Amino acid sequence: MPASIKDVAAHAGVSVGTVSNVLNARAKVSVEIAARVDDAIRELGYVRNDAARQLRAGRSSAIGLVILDVGNPFFADLARGSEDEADRSGYSIILGNSDERVEREAGYLDLFEQQRMRGVLISPIGDVTERLGQLRDRGIPAVLVDRTTADPSFSSVSVDDIAGGALAMEHLVATGRRRVAFVGGPMTIRQVTDRLEGARRAAERHEGVTLEVIETEALTVFAGRDVGVGIVARDPADRPDAIFAANDLVAVGVLQALVINGAAVRVPEDVALIGYDDIDFARATVVPLSSVRQPAALIGGTAVQILLEEADDPDVAPRQVVFQPELVVRESTGG
Ligand code: RIB
Repeated sequence: MPASIKDVAAHAGVSVGTVSNVLNARAKVSVEIAARVDDAIRELGYVRNDAARQLRAGRSSAIGLVILDVGNPFFADLARGSEDEADRSGYSIILGNSDERVEREAGYLDLFEQQRMRGVLISPIGDVTERLGQLRDRGIPAVLVDRTTADPSFSSVSVDDIAGGALAMEHLVATGRRRVAFVGGPMTIRQVTDRLEGARRAAERHEGVTLEVIETEALTVFAGRDVGVGIVARDPADRPDAIFAANDLVAVGVLQALVINGAAVRVPEDVALIGYDDIDFARATVVPLSSVRQPAALIGGTAVQILLEEADDPDVAPRQVVFQPELVVRESTGG
């Protein structure tokens, strides 16, 4: 494999951004550092990919970020992590909210192409790799965030949501719960189906544990509240003794229906409740929520690092970074 900009950076003991500055903005670098980078380029025989670089000539100093739901604090934390890392390299983030609508997602990808963005980060609704391939052909790299990709030629930064679903389920079983309901949807969202799959695999490992699936049309507080109202209306013997919500917003909605408006259901005594993401609200709810934490800001920052490396050197190998989720136990499951 020919030496990449990453190899040069490692060899010289500097960041990829510094190598890029030596190549494109030498005045920003000290003589000593520039000499080290020059030596590394010579020793490794690195040859810059000017064809792709010419394609990118005149690129904006902005990175496009398409998220699924701007109303979800998880994505606000992810965007903040992206912004902080982009700022360290002199770039800005332009945020687009697909609102889980395919036509809106497509519109932002078209806009970012027209604006010749330095690159695109996207938490996709479905499979957009064909469209991302067209962007890449025009010199605009893309990295998937909060989602792995079926196409290994694209980099991605995500969390192992199957492991996260299993973590939640194992915790509920460990607290003595046996009739668990998974609440979330739509099942077109990979994060939801992966969390459910993890919970399903964990349930199968324990004799006498049942898993009911209550699909919602969205991952919102309102969707959770509607499900919670339905559970309160059930005969107590027909209620689950634990609820695993696909994310914290749904969990907050379920909690509202169960414990507010004079409902007769106690959390966690009658029904344990766990969410996913560990957004700030999770610890501020009337019964602080247990949750499965995702390092949202780290996901965003890591995706920017990878994207800028690929923007500087189209030959750098794609990477799939998968972080592990973390269980956070609070009062809603008896912590
Ligand atoms: O937007 C859907 C969910 O997937 C978010 O709540 C967050 O958990 C993301 O991973």
